[in-house]
Amino acid sequence: MNFSDKPIGIFDSGVGGLTVAKSIKEVLPDEQIIYFGDTLHLPYGEKSSHSIVRYSKQITQFLLDQGCKAIVIACNSASAHAYEATKECVPEGFPVINVIDPVVKHIHQLEANSNVGVIGTKATIRSKVYQDRISPIKISYLETPLLAAMVEEGFINNEVSQSVISAYLRKKELSTIDTLILGCTHYPLLEKDIKAYYNDAIRIIDSGRLVAQELKEKLMNLKLFNSGAMEKNDAFYVSDYTTSFEQTTKTFFGAEISLKELKIT
Ligand code: DGL
Repeated sequence: MNFSDKPIGIFDSGVGGLTVAKSIKEVLPDEQIIYFGDTLHLPYGEKSSHSIVRYSKQITQFLLDQGCKAIVIACNSASAHAYEATKECVPEGFPVINVIDPVVKHIHQLEANSNVGVIGTKATIRSKVYQDRISPIKISYLETPLLAAMVEEGFINNEVSQSVISAYLRKKELSTIDTLILGCTHYPLLEKDIKAYYNDAIRIIDSGRLVAQELKEKLMNLKLFNSGAMEKNDAFYVSDYTTSFEQTTKTFFGAEISLKELKIT
């Protein structure tokens, strides 16, 4: 098999990264994916940098063992804390895409006087990962840790989600923003609620599509597009299987998928 026909490895702390996987499948339908959700260790948003690095390295090794030709860190917390560590695990020049760099690139195309806010997990927000990288554009941060759990419990586009979102977004940190980065894999599912809160008056940046485009460009530059010659069987692994995880996958991926369990420690 040609190396270009190998799968793309995608990982996240759980099932939220399936929103990124979905965008990748939309932009690159001929590619095969192997997804790994570390459900045993989620939420990464509450973990130390040290633990996020350790889990990310193990998963990267698993994806390399599966023969993946590229790795996508489909988790903001892992992108903020373990991107460098992940790159150290792969051969020189091997494509590793995180969910933050494509957003930084995009923000640089905005007007210099833009006023950007970012919401995400504690791990992502406390990393201050956007700081200095988007200067002179002003950025404000807000931890919104309840939102990921809320989405997993199915509170989307309803009274509960609207009231939690409003409690967060009305905080003074975000009072003057004109652009909001959805800095967590779960938040694209809340886009409608968030837009409604702002009466559609601000720009919302969802990394999924930007990440998929960045991956497409990387694969094109490296001549790594799948030739379409082989049968493509996407595979979805989790480190701790439960039926409730499997049931929520449809919300994130937009299609029924079956999960296989593969333990990491
Ligand atoms: N996937 C995580 C992220 O994007 C959210 C869930 C978690 O905290 O593990 O930061």
